Amino acid sequence: MPWCIRTARFSTPSTRRRRPGCPPSKWHRTRGSSCRLLVQLSGARRILEIGTLAGYSTIWMGRGLPHNGKLVTCEYLPQHAEVAWANIDAAGLGERVEIRLGPALDTLAALEEEEREPFDFIFIDADKQNNSRYLDFAVRLGRPGAAVVLDNTIWEGAVLDPDIDPVNAPGIIDALKMLGDHPRLDATVIQTVGSKGWDGFALARILPQNSK
Ligand SMILES: C[S@@+](CC[C@H](N)C(=O)[O-])C[C@H]1O[C@@H](n2cnc3c(N)ncnc32)[C@H](O)[C@@H]1O
Repeated sequence: MPWCIRTARFSTPSTRRRRPGCPPSKWHRTRGSSCRLLVQLSGARRILEIGTLAGYSTIWMGRGLPHNGKLVTCEYLPQHAEVAWANIDAAGLGERVEIRLGPALDTLAALEEEEREPFDFIFIDADKQNNSRYLDFAVRLGRPGAAVVLDNTIWEGAVLDPDIDPVNAPGIIDALKMLGDHPRLDATVIQTVGSKGWDGFALARILPQNSK
């Protein structure tokens, strides 16, 4: 059973709670506001997020939604989902956000079965090993014209030197190749440098069938 969460109070992401077992989010304010702006610029009404952690990015993106907008976020660790729910609740976004608890690949397959309205904005930020699989689902679950953001695509330079992080770099590199080759994706990569180091994100648009 999906774990659906709803509520209605307000706070800022900086007041977010943390608990033992829930690591701090690496996000900072400029990354949060850039994601909210991307949501607003794309005019998204329906967002899919893969990787919730404490709900920090969820709250930033949720604040970019119109009042009738919806955000579905996927998380497999109950302790993360619990903290995220408290934060989303405190941010007054419970009516717009649904947390789906379980391995994201299972949740995405279930969403496909449910034949929901397609998503307008998809944010991928979970286990890097599955990045390509998440992109594949993004194309199937997003509408033509939808925006896809794949986070952590530079990873302190590990995309050029995978020995820096042999666990995560291969999944990031495979996903970047997929973004370059995929007939339904038009993509670029934007590098970022800040207090949390050198990284970046891929920004893609889902194309209609047979348009590339
Ligand atoms: C980098 S954190 C997400 C950070 C969050 N998007 C933010 O910016 O505030 C990745 C999250 O994805 C979750 N995760 C990792 N692998 C997963 C999987 N296969 N299915 C669902 N969630 C997963 C982790 O438990 C973690 O909470």
